[in-house]
Amino acid sequence: STTLAYPKANVGKSAGMAVNEAIGFSYPDESSPCYVIRMGAPVPGGVGPNADIVAYSSMCTHMGCPVAYDAGSRTFKCGCHFSIFDPENHGQMVCGQATEDLPRIKLEYDTQTDLVHAVGVDGLIYGRQSNIL
Ligand code: FES
Repeated sequence: STTLAYPKANVGKSAGMAVNEAIGFSYPDESSPCYVIRMGAPVPGGVGPNADIVAYSSMCTHMGCPVAYDAGSRTFKCGCHFSIFDPENHGQMVCGQATEDLPRIKLEYDTQTDLVHAVGVDGLIYGRQSNIL
């Protein structure tokens, strides 16, 4: 089989990301919606000047419904069957019908430009046999 390379995609500047606010983008292609969030304090795997920026697929791993970010509880919530995922702990499923954590978008931070780039995916995006189509 062929292993295709992940694209490198500009997600935006760290300075332009408001704390605890989910910003939508697509990665690794237009049919894969994701969120990037600057959590406001360092988190495992976080990038950026404060090691607090993380990104995830926003398609629930249960049946693919869109998850929504709830700033109050600092979790992603799926309205279809109420799965909850924790962006501050690798997208771990906290409770619900899903059996997999939210796929994590691997990020890189460029200190020269303040740009955050998506460079890969950990975990399988819902409905796919391969993240790169
Ligand atoms: Fe999200 Fe079922 S699709 S919990």
